[in-house]
Amino acid sequence: MQVEVKLKQNPYKVYIDELENLEFNTKVFILSNPKISGLHLEKLLSKIKAKELFIGIVKDGEEYKNLATIEEILNQMFNSRLDRKSILISFGGGVISDMGGFAASIYQRGIEFINIPTTLLACVDAAVGGKTGVNNDFGKNLIGTFYQPKAVYCQSEFLKTLGSKELSAGMAEFIKMAIIFDKNLLDFIENIDEKSFLNASCENEIFTQIIAKSVQLKAKIVELDEKESKLRMLLNFGHTFAHVIEKFTDYKVYLHGEAVAIGMNMANYLACNLGFLSKHECQRIESILLKFALPIFYKIDKVEEFYEAFFMDKKSSDKKLNFILADSLGKGVIKDDISKKDIIASLKEFQ
Ligand code: GLY
Repeated sequence: MQVEVKLKQNPYKVYIDELENLEFNTKVFILSNPKISGLHLEKLLSKIKAKELFIGIVKDGEEYKNLATIEEILNQMFNSRLDRKSILISFGGGVISDMGGFAASIYQRGIEFINIPTTLLACVDAAVGGKTGVNNDFGKNLIGTFYQPKAVYCQSEFLKTLGSKELSAGMAEFIKMAIIFDKNLLDFIENIDEKSFLNASCENEIFTQIIAKSVQLKAKIVELDEKESKLRMLLNFGHTFAHVIEKFTDYKVYLHGEAVAIGMNMANYLACNLGFLSKHECQRIESILLKFALPIFYKIDKVEEFYEAFFMDKKSSDKKLNFILADSLGKGVIKDDISKKDIIASLKEFQ
């Protein structure tokens, strides 16, 4: 199956379970991490023909998604003598696609790149839409570019080796889309057999369906608002909270999707307290998150400090906070007028 991301300047296709032989008459640099290259690189290499092929391996994990690793990647690219016609392939999860895309966007002012995501989270979200970048001391994803891939290949077979924690984390981003854009997806999610899903013994077809539904939705959003002036901001539901949690835990405790799950729960408490969501709707989401073994609680020690950290969010300015909330299930809204008193009151429920 193919989904087209119909952008005026850089349209491209997301191929779902259609990774056939790829031939390039240029140099190709594959960026991956030790775990994914150990598991799947051989298979990928059997499908790629290039003028010259180079492999770059960087450490695995969100805590390594920083400028130091970008420098390491760029050095490997220079050592490989890549030229401006060369192509970078990001082969890994969201961390790899964010960094690979970023390195490609700045190497000799930009070379083409392809995403071949190997986690559910990267398939449903990170690999599509052209957000690239790294974290720094000030917060998450604060350095980066909008730079679209030339193509994306999502293969459900790669997801079969994921652990339950990683599958849960990917599911969080899919649940996010359902809450903010499409209530019908919640019924689909509720009908998934979580046991076989979480131990990856389910049919590949389940992964294919999840990827297809999210990529179709995301493609439409990116087409309408590539640079995130408004509509695309809704895809950050739960992230304002999640980014603070990830920063406060040094990116070491939660996978990104897990932090998003807690963030969505926090956002729902706020929405519920403000009267947007009913208690029943909030509980429905909580049950879905728990069904997929996602965390929903993070203990906030210093509420005021947590609140102040929101101001580093890219959606906010130094005076105004923007929150993405569910107005009702399947419909997200951006709110910029929530009082500090209301925000603090909701955060206190997590003390
Ligand atoms: N991860 C949210 C977006 O791509 O906009």
